[in-house]
Amino acid sequence: MNLTRETEIDSAPLDGRRVAIVGYGNQGRAQALNLKDSGVEVVVGLRGASGSAIEAQSAGLKVALLEDAVGSADIVMLLAPDEILGDLYREIEPNLREGAALGFSHGLAVHFGYLAPRPDLDVYMIAPKGPGTALRSLYTEGKGMIALWAVAQDATGNARGIALAYGRAIGCARAGLIASSFEEEAVADLFNENAVVWGGVPELLRAGFETLVEGGVTPEIAYLECVGELKLLAELIDARGIAGMREVISNTAELGAVSGGPQIIRPDIRERMREVLGAVKSGAFATSLREEAQAGYPQLDKARSDARAQSIEAAYRSIRDLKAD
Ligand SMILES: NC(=O)c1ccc[n+]([C@@H]2O[C@H](COP(=O)([O-])OP(=O)(O)OC[C@H]3O[C@@H](n4cnc5c(N)ncnc54)[C@H](OP(=O)(O)O)[C@@H]3O)[C@@H](O)[C@H]2O)c1
Repeated sequence: MNLTRETEIDSAPLDGRRVAIVGYGNQGRAQALNLKDSGVEVVVGLRGASGSAIEAQSAGLKVALLEDAVGSADIVMLLAPDEILGDLYREIEPNLREGAALGFSHGLAVHFGYLAPRPDLDVYMIAPKGPGTALRSLYTEGKGMIALWAVAQDATGNARGIALAYGRAIGCARAGLIASSFEEEAVADLFNENAVVWGGVPELLRAGFETLVEGGVTPEIAYLECVGELKLLAELIDARGIAGMREVISNTAELGAVSGGPQIIRPDIRERMREVLGAVKSGAFATSLREEAQAGYPQLDKARSDARAQSIEAAYRSIRDLKAD
């Protein structure tokens, strides 16, 4: 692993250069504020009808219409939803300065061909490994969030320096910038979302909850057991690793874990994981994401309303209300 830390990075590539942050959502807000607090000149580029303009202005940021922000900047960071980045790039391309740098926080749009950046542009990625809310709070605490970085196109010879200086200015280099590629970051991130933390784990929690309730356990108790302990597990794994986590739980819990875990997650799960990985690598998932957006998000709308109607949500609300009392 090739890790670069703050002290090894020259901040000069951002000196006297203006950064346009396109989009003021989860990442856009955090990155714009961190850049500003690091002394970088920032302008937030938004659509005319954006409701985020007032929020960005009240946070002390300069705000401009998309085309003006892009046209006035040396570095343009695209921080809108991935599935619209192709259309967004084509909209702003005429305004991008010759030799400007174009940045991303995910490798997906470039690697899977949603857009093809002009040959005169530097193209880089700084992909923080966590949500924007945490990126911002870590920065204000003097800490940083680890990020992957890569260069896809080095038209001016400055792309590497700009990428690292950008990663430093948003605070990520305090924790470390790991050298990667657009392909590696996109594939690893999409695979995890599909198959492991965001795809697999919630399904496992729900199956466990429903099995316990079906077996006669009170829904709130089933929820506390199957879902409520996830935070403890995550904190222990974060602090000690998987083996270290096992060392601090009771013998009862440990024996249950090592005998029951492999019974539930059987070896053939890897075959299905390879299928998911294949669909990610081939670009099939990236295509379906773009088609979903073009169709107006029917699958996501349905999945969201189905999820809200599940019995586990009623148990969640009871526990939440109990904690609030
Ligand atoms: N979410 C995360 O925690 C996270 C973590 C790591 C990396 N990333 C990456 O960071 C990037 C941004 O993700 P995000 O979750 O921060 O996005 P997001 O919160 O969904 O972005 C919302 C912003 O995008 C703007 N936007 C939406 N459609 C637009 C359009 N057609 N033209 C111009 N602006 C538009 C919205 O404008 P309005 O204000 O006008 O609605 C809003 O300001 C993605 O590449 C993502 O993969 C995200």
